Order: sequence, then structure tokens, then C-alpha cells
Amino acid sequence: MAELKTLRSERWLGRDDFRTFNHRSRVMQMGYDKKDWEGKPVIAILNNWSDYNPCHMHFKHRVEEVKRGVLQAGGFPLEIQTVSLGENLIKPSALLYRNMLAMEVEEMIRAYPADGVVLMGGCDKTTPAMLLGATSANLPSIFLPAGPMLRGNWGGKTLGSGSDAFKYWDDKRAGIISNDEWDAIVGGIARSHGTCMTMGTASTMTAIAEALGMTLPGASSIPAVDASHQRMATNVGRRIVEMVAEDLRPSRIQTRDAFLNAITVAMAMGCSTNAIIHVIAQARRAGHDIGLNDFDRISREIPVIANVRPSGTSQYLMEDFYYAGGLPALMKRLGAYLRTDVLTVTGKSIGENIADARVFNDDVIRPLSNPVYAEGSLAVLRGNLAPDGCVIKPSAMSEKFLVHQGPAIVFDDYPSLKAMLEDEHADITADHVIVLRNAGPKGGPGMPEWGMIPISQRLLKQGVRDMLRISDARMSGTSYGACVLHVSPEAFVGGNLALVKTGDLIAVDVPNRRIEVRVSDEELARRRATWEPPKPRFGRGYGWMFSEHILQADEGCDMDFLQTSFGETAGEPDIF
Ligand code: FES
Repeated sequence: MAELKTLRSERWLGRDDFRTFNHRSRVMQMGYDKKDWEGKPVIAILNNWSDYNPCHMHFKHRVEEVKRGVLQAGGFPLEIQTVSLGENLIKPSALLYRNMLAMEVEEMIRAYPADGVVLMGGCDKTTPAMLLGATSANLPSIFLPAGPMLRGNWGGKTLGSGSDAFKYWDDKRAGIISNDEWDAIVGGIARSHGTCMTMGTASTMTAIAEALGMTLPGASSIPAVDASHQRMATNVGRRIVEMVAEDLRPSRIQTRDAFLNAITVAMAMGCSTNAIIHVIAQARRAGHDIGLNDFDRISREIPVIANVRPSGTSQYLMEDFYYAGGLPALMKRLGAYLRTDVLTVTGKSIGENIADARVFNDDVIRPLSNPVYAEGSLAVLRGNLAPDGCVIKPSAMSEKFLVHQGPAIVFDDYPSLKAMLEDEHADITADHVIVLRNAGPKGGPGMPEWGMIPISQRLLKQGVRDMLRISDARMSGTSYGACVLHVSPEAFVGGNLALVKTGDLIAVDVPNRRIEVRVSDEELARRRATWEPPKPRFGRGYGWMFSEHILQADEGCDMDFLQTSFGETAGEPDIF
């Protein structure tokens, strides 16, 4: 291990003077002695645990394994509970609070005595939030992914998070399954600790954290309840102490090449559309101008080779992906598509980390010559309906909608959409294009995952299971269907989506990356002249601050004042 330089924590604990009397006496109040901290790096363990976050239930105990590793390596661990964003219970949208958690992580790292940081997260927005904060704070940091839960089960059938909820909800509405069967599915779909085990936002974002070099190799694929996860946690504790000695900060790891690797891996995984927003925000925090064009370009090059639902053609889930070799095996298979010389938290390059990785099941992690989907999983569309871009997931939709034109049926809010969906006599056909607006960053607020608009009751009974849907909302990474998302600028701020009327023809052409409303510029200008902005969603508090400062989806939905470009940091104020 490299020799420790002067530790940052010595400002709190190292000096024997009156100014630090209080710090030292209060650490002793917890039962520690000078021998516990003198000359040792303080490791802040930011634990995203709470009773409101079922995906992180094991973190209450897992943190002890991290502490064990820190102590073994000669560090002094102190745990901090962070705001816990439980995706499944939080309203109106966890994205609304991603930036709040990011700010908390950044400020707590800065405010407390810490020389190195362990970030414990995994449920959807917690991964990007914690990495955003750590990127800006820029102390040596390592991410500990919560790990996916085990496969769901219902009467011997495998159930996947989110995807099967949508599928069987449609079956229930169409009268194919009973209420009792539905209840059994509710109880069987999430049967262990851990994050959603489909290739949703959680699995996508933890894979991205690993591809960026911010986790130990293979960490993102280990199921939460596997004993390997406990051993990984202890290794994380040991490694962060070494990282402090090596002064291995996020700024050395999160290079532009590292972000391009992360996007490449995300595409090969058949990633959640949410990844775009989070990666753009994080890259910009790290000082790199990554945008929608980078995603579209890499998407065209990289085939989807992870046969994991919802993109896959089979029942495979993250547990199968782990047994097949996990992320190191997938990265090995990507070969020359990756920039293998980038540094990681191990102190070694990605190439060194994956040198011995092997694929154990060619149907779960496909060879490049036999992909699940030949082109990448996401496409960025532009046109008069989305001048700043929008997103669709061709790998998880019916091919017949890749090129489609149909009349719009427009909804300004979710309740009126819901009423139509449940109306047996609604005047809608499978060729219509459903438009939901005012569901973007400001309008949602926080871009709720409403983008996978359900198929109407009437069409479901006719056997329709996909149709073209357009919104400025997001959709869950476990969702599927011909859903155009993240339309930018959003309707709430006067994007052209706000000007569409029911009956207008909308045309989508995914191969040519176009999306248009067939209305002349003159007519759009006439409609704009009479458009009135909706009332603001918030008048005070965090919501007001969010609304005032949130950037659009194509810019990563970060707060404008948190971007690196907003102002040079003046360094840490020595205020005590
Ligand atoms: Fe936590 Fe899906 S709800 S990861």
C-alpha cells in the first residue's frame, strides 16, 4: 500500500488544540479511542438504506461487512445515512429527488471528516445521484451496487420486475387471468432483497457504474442475497483505504473514454432509456460534453448481446446474467469496442480487470455474431416535434411501428388519458398515435415514468398489444413498446409538443431518426401565438428550486447551478 500523505480528516481529528476539542471529544462519546483514528484514513460510508426502500433492505447489515474491510485495511469507518429514494414508493417521481440526493452526497462528503467514500446504492436513481455527488466532491470514492434480487416466481413461471407486472395487468384487464392469480403475482414478483432483476434502470445504472470503473470488477451483477455480495462488500471496504493512499479520485477515473465505454456497455446490455439522462448529467459534472448524439452514434455500432428482459427473447434475468459470467464477461466480448486502457477503482485498467473473464452461457451473453438485436437498443429522433431530440427503444417494440404515420389523440394530463383508456367506447384504433404532454422535467414534475402509456381496454380486447405513443415523460427501464420519450423541449415550457391537436398527423421514421407533426410552420406559429403557459407546479420549497433550475432531458435534468460549467469551485472553505 502506498504511504499516506496528510489526511484531510486531520483538520477535524488530527490537531490537539481547542478548535478540534469538540470533534475529538464527540468521537470519543461514541466509544472510540485515539487508537481508532490516529494516522488512519476516515472512510465515510454513505448508506442509502431506509424502510421505504425495499431494494436496499440488506444494506442495514451489509454495511457491517464494508466496515470489516475498512478496519482490516487500517481505516476508520463512519456511516452516514442518506436520503433513501425507494423508486417504488416515492411520488410523483424519484427523478424529482435525484438531484436532492446528489446535493446531499456532495455536501455531506465536503462537510464531514472524510478521506475516502463508499457509496451504497442501486435502486434506480440512487446510483446516478450518489455518483453525481461524489463526482463533484471528488474525494476517492467507490460504488457498492445493491445487486439484483432473485428471479420472481408464480406457479413455476419466472416473473421479471416491471415487465411482467405490465404484461399480466394487461391480461387481467383483458379477462385472461383472475383476481386471485393477480394477487399471487403481486406476492411472487419480488421475493428477495435487491434491485429489479430485469434490465431496468437499476441494472443499467449499476452496470454503467462498473463500466465507468467506479465499482470492483463484476460487482454490479452479483445477486443481493448471494454470499459473494457480502465478500464483495468487504473487499470494497479494504480497497477504499488503499484508494485514499493512492489518491485515486473520480476525476482520474471518469475520463471521456470511460463515459464512452459506459455508453457502449449500456447499449450492449439493452439499457433503460433513463440511462441517457443520468449519463449526460454525470459526464457534464465530470467536465465532458457528452450528449444525445453520442448515444445515437454508439447505438448504431453496438449490438445488444445481453439476452435479458425486456430486450431479450427469453425468460433470462439478471440472476442468469450473473451465472453466465456477469458484466466482465460481457465487456470481454465487446473486445475492440471498448477503450481498455482506462483506469478503474482497482488501480488497474478495465482491460486488466477483465483479462480472465469468461462467458459460461452463449445464449445469455451472446457472441457479437449472434446478437439479440443487431443495432443498439436506443435511437434518438429529431424533427419539428422534438427539435432538441427524443428517444425510442427499438429493441423492445413491435417492428411495424419503426416507420409509422397516424392521427394524434392528445392528452394534457394523466387523469384524462386514464379516462379514455378505460372507456369501452373510446374512438381509438391501433393506428392512432397517443400523445401525453406536460409530463416532462418541469411539467411532470420530475418526468414521471408514464411514457409506457397503457393500451386502451377496448383495443386490448381486440388483441392489440403495441401502438405508437409519444410523451415528454420517461418510462421505466422494465417497460417496452413503441414509446417515444423525453421529447425536448417539453410541452410545459412551450415545446412544439404543446401545439399538437387531436387529429394532426404524426410521422415517426426510426431508421432515418425523424419525428414530425405534419403541420406547417405557419400553422405552428399561429398556435404558438395563442398558447398560454400552465401554472407553475410549485410555489415554494425544494420543488420550487427544482422547477426554477432544472435543465431539459437532453441536458441530463441536472440543476443548472450544479453543472461544472456553472462556476469554478473555490475549493474547500477552512471555516473552523
Ligand atoms: Fe428499486 Fe426497481 S424499485 S430497483
